[in-house]
Amino acid sequence: MQPANEKTFAMTINGRRLTANDGESVLTVAKRAGIDIPTLCHHPAIEDFGSCRLCLVEVTKPEWKGWQGLMTACLYPAAKDLIVETQSERVRHVRRNVLDLLLARCPESQVIQQLASDYGVTRSSFTPRADADLCILCGLCVRVCESAVTAAIATLNRGRRREVGPPFGDVPPDCVGCTACAHVCPTGHIIFTEDKGVRTIWNKKFELLRCQKCHEPLLTVEQRDHLLKTRDLDVSYYELCPGCKRQRTAETFADVVLKTHPHFVPKQMGGSSGIPTVPFVQHKEVRP
Ligand code: FES
Repeated sequence: MQPANEKTFAMTINGRRLTANDGESVLTVAKRAGIDIPTLCHHPAIEDFGSCRLCLVEVTKPEWKGWQGLMTACLYPAAKDLIVETQSERVRHVRRNVLDLLLARCPESQVIQQLASDYGVTRSSFTPRADADLCILCGLCVRVCESAVTAAIATLNRGRRREVGPPFGDVPPDCVGCTACAHVCPTGHIIFTEDKGVRTIWNKKFELLRCQKCHEPLLTVEQRDHLLKTRDLDVSYYELCPGCKRQRTAETFADVVLKTHPHFVPKQMGGSSGIPTVPFVQHKEVRP
């Protein structure tokens, strides 16, 4: 594969010559090529931090005279002529050790159990943590809250008492109940519930606003108010759920098409209109 310009270059992963772009990580290049590298603390929308160490790969370059290093694929930048091995015996050995430790930390986590068994670890060789929960301390929840919402949760304490949660373990005053932390958590440690229009997360209760058309629960009052403050969008933007918004856009679009092309017959209905790329959108209510 030939590099297209000076911002792209060639590198090798598992013997495959691949094109990479300046600024990409090894993980991004590998994923694009369909090469599997296990990850726990990586999320495409959040800056990588390299905390789980599961994505370790072996890297080298021709001019390194045989030296090979273990690097986290999510953080290591793709580079010209870089040679990466994602499944060498050394890589698999280190990943096995990482998973052995993670299994001792979270013996009940199905995600960890599955990953560990993929690497032949069915029981941790370390003593499982007493009162173990599902948190691997990857910090993804804290980072998504910091970067996209209100930094309502943090990493607390040190050493064996280290955990994530609201400051002082209290109900978090800044939490807007968006559940982003729960959605990015790789092991399902963060739980929220929704019952009778009330969402509960981090022991805090939030009233849920409903879609004005289909009446499905949509977002919390605090989340809507936070978005109104931080995004340049009108309050009406938050009145419909994504499905009803799409429906409304489609209806508006169909109205415009039918007004400007009153004799338009969609292709699907046997017509050959002058605007063949316009899909026909039927008018119908989502719900009575
Ligand atoms: Fe790279 Fe966790 S995904 S260190």
